[in-house]
Amino acid sequence: MAYTYINKRLHCDGVDLEDVAEKYGTPTYIYSERILRRNAEVLKKIFIDRGFKVSYAMKANSNPMILKLFKSYGFGVDIVSEGEFKLAQHCGFEGLELNFAGVGKTIEELDLALDFDIDHFNVESRFELELLETRAKIAGKKAAVLLRLNPDIDPQTHPHISTGLKQNKFGMSPEKVRHFLTHAESYPHIQFDGIHCHIGSQIVQPQPFYDLIDYLEQFTSSLRASGVEFSHIDLGGGFGVNYEDPFEDILQTTPFLESIADRAMEKLGEYQLHIQPGRVLVANAGVLLARVLGNKENGGHHFVIIDGATTDLVRPAMYDAYHAIYSHLEDRPMHMGDVVGPVCESSDALARNREIPDFDKDDLMIIGSAGAYASSMGSTYNMRPLSPEVMVGLSGETHLLRKRQSFDEMISLYT
Ligand code: LLP
Repeated sequence: MAYTYINKRLHCDGVDLEDVAEKYGTPTYIYSERILRRNAEVLKKIFIDRGFKVSYAMKANSNPMILKLFKSYGFGVDIVSEGEFKLAQHCGFEGLELNFAGVGKTIEELDLALDFDIDHFNVESRFELELLETRAKIAGKKAAVLLRLNPDIDPQTHPHISTGLKQNKFGMSPEKVRHFLTHAESYPHIQFDGIHCHIGSQIVQPQPFYDLIDYLEQFTSSLRASGVEFSHIDLGGGFGVNYEDPFEDILQTTPFLESIADRAMEKLGEYQLHIQPGRVLVANAGVLLARVLGNKENGGHHFVIIDGATTDLVRPAMYDAYHAIYSHLEDRPMHMGDVVGPVCESSDALARNREIPDFDKDDLMIIGSAGAYASSMGSTYNMRPLSPEVMVGLSGETHLLRKRQSFDEMISLYT
């Protein structure tokens, strides 16, 4: 059922979104529990049931309800900061369910994670490896490490979310990875468990993943020929979603997931394989509800002004990303225009030069694919409070997952 028009009004799992907007106000993020579970089940079946470890990249959406839901499917979490570490702990994840990624980690972060005996650190540079060696020695521990390899593979996605090209800041060259693995004895407090790669995000073709798997097959066999053995390979995340039609099923969006899992098992099956998906699990489970404040024309250009903004969904401004725009009422006439927020920036747009439905003042607008990198990238620019998150449960009940930030809370941070 998920998101569908019933009696010409957009519903989420049987709940009229206008009722949700009236109850919780706007802007508000809505998540469908049914879609979250469907996505988790599909990834579990394709990956966990084939022996992969799945760590949800919580940067995509770190709402505790979502973290706990994924935990119940056997997923660990991929964390990148002390804040994410604390939130994962708060949600009941054990050390062995955490891996710590990221291009730079502080001493405090390394110490906390060592103390909690996390499953492994993904290390991206010599300075980080040396710091981790020092901190592990002080802690009297051996830190499990996957070295992040930069394979110089083009993920064919937006340049801002490409991470596996050699000019990107991420990972290390194959020569450096080989160097560290062949000099493991220089790091007595590091246990080199294997290799990690994450070549980019919103990848909608299977080929970059095939290229990555083939590359790793060759790289690991050449390492093995030099006597280097290890046990784990982490292929990262990056599985894309359909932003054009967010309401289609995960397997229509990513029919290639199974073929990636099969190819990885065929070529790298002797390793413990990991993946770290974020977006594919959450993006299309969510929408953003916003209220139309009014319409205006400027220089022959039509603008629909809403109460939501780039502070709620920065992706169109940051990556020129497409998010589908729906009217709560079905079959509205379409016309060209922009959807913009009230923030004092020309880039504060959620859709530009697009065919959009006709909106009147006070109409409800629904912006698609707001489950990933929306609330987690929210900001308080212009003193706009963070918007609430609401889940529509399996029996059509609504749960407030995060309150709207209050002005008192915002002001209280100032000393
Ligand atoms: N693993 C690592 C090491 C990552 O850096 C990321 C995402 C993931 C996994 C999860 O990738 P996913 O499966 O979600 O594609 N804010 C951008 C996306 C940035 C992704 C950063 N890294 C956006 O809104 O498109």
